[in-house]
Amino acid sequence: MAVAVFGIAAVGARVAVTVLRAPLDTRGTVTFDRELRIPALAESRVEDGVRVFDLTMQRGESDLGRGTATPTWGINGPHLAPTLRAARGEEVRVRVTNRLGEASTLHWHGMRLPARMDGGPHQMIEPGATWTPQWNIDQPAAGLWYHPHPHGETARHVYRGLAGMFLIDDDAESRLALPRRYGIDDLPMIVQDRRFHDDGTLDTSTSLFQSEGIIGDTVLVNGTPGPYVDVTTRTVRLRLLNGSNTRPYDFVFDDHREFSVIGTDSGLLPAPVPVRAVPLSPGERAEVVVTFRPGERVRLQSEPTPGGARFAGGSDHLEIAEFRAASDLGGVGTVPDRLVDVAPIPETAATVTRSFSLGGSTIDRKPMDMARIDEVVTAGATEIWSVANSGDAVHNFHIHDAAFQILDIDGDPPPRYLGGWKDTVWVPRDSTVRLIMTFAHHTDTEVPYMYHCHLLRHEDEGMMGQFLVVPPGTSTDPADYSARTGHHH
Ligand code: C2O
Ligand code: CU
Ligand code: CU
Repeated sequence: MAVAVFGIAAVGARVAVTVLRAPLDTRGTVTFDRELRIPALAESRVEDGVRVFDLTMQRGESDLGRGTATPTWGINGPHLAPTLRAARGEEVRVRVTNRLGEASTLHWHGMRLPARMDGGPHQMIEPGATWTPQWNIDQPAAGLWYHPHPHGETARHVYRGLAGMFLIDDDAESRLALPRRYGIDDLPMIVQDRRFHDDGTLDTSTSLFQSEGIIGDTVLVNGTPGPYVDVTTRTVRLRLLNGSNTRPYDFVFDDHREFSVIGTDSGLLPAPVPVRAVPLSPGERAEVVVTFRPGERVRLQSEPTPGGARFAGGSDHLEIAEFRAASDLGGVGTVPDRLVDVAPIPETAATVTRSFSLGGSTIDRKPMDMARIDEVVTAGATEIWSVANSGDAVHNFHIHDAAFQILDIDGDPPPRYLGGWKDTVWVPRDSTVRLIMTFAHHTDTEVPYMYHCHLLRHEDEGMMGQFLVVPPGTSTDPADYSARTGHHH
């Protein structure tokens, strides 16, 4: 049943993609006949006070609902990756072995850590090699994620299935009366769209006219097509991750119920924010708490996104997942009024303002160059980054190693649910978003961090730049530096 339904949708979408893509509407066409898969928590052990994880990037085959196995890539399994979990203050070491048969990297998206541990394009892992980054977790509780970042190949590596979540715990979060039983009332939701050929293989082709990259007609959550969730508690926490290459979502429930946003990319909000919809562009996360009534069924969907984003699939209506509440529900059914302290960074604290312009597939008309340093930041400095999208394409902006606050979007304060810590932000067409952040203290005068559009086709084409974080008193002129790459070909 599900196969037939997806098959028809796939044919329709493929035809539509080659002409200018007509909006897709999957409402009422998905049977929700598979239980949501929950990525395993990665095993770890503590050696000399360091929490050690072992990850192996590999190829495999997965049942993605096509009636036949789909070749996929995964970590410690055929598809996607285990959830890493560590507490603030812990020292972690990850041993990443590459058995893909081609070079890749593994980047800790949202993590504050030394540039050499970041897993960006300068930390290539050759086939058969093991890369072993180690760092101290020093940031608030949040749901981060990890994925490959090889320059020019990120879209392909992520699309094939390399992505997982990295949850950080801390005392402030653990004191709150929030659902936190992993896989029971605290659910990772890695939302990704995919397109398939009739033989079940992933379709990676994109139309000549499709500059945004791959847009799928089938939504997978944690690799599950048409998933349902058996709900056993009144409140459930969803850690929504837009892990798609291109597609933005605007998450709603089919009955348009209110739910609470409790956190965004890099941490919890000061207080829950009631909403009926939460938009996420690729790479962004939202933690939400939803309240269920006994015995009900409710579906999570995606509506056309604010600002259209038609060419990135933003005009589509999509089914995402069905929640099936038991007739007896446990738990209290409430959300705390107050969450954590988020001190706004005053604009006057900034000593440097930088401007970036996103257009075509470049930033400031310069395509990414691995050997060029674009910006040099002094460790500990507070800066404003003003990011403009001057064209009519869809872009967002992600900064490595930094957690920022949104000062304003076209001069207006952001909506309340965007009032906390972020590492990726939507930059709507014809608009300017101003971000403020205080950079951390890890310095390196040779290995840069990245900033880029997180639509992976754009990033691969060069909508990315590199910044160093250097010790105070060191030159901040990019001309004094060039990037030293650990990547020898
Ligand atoms: Cu999610 Cu530079 O990456
Ligand atoms: Cu990142
Ligand atoms: Cu872009």
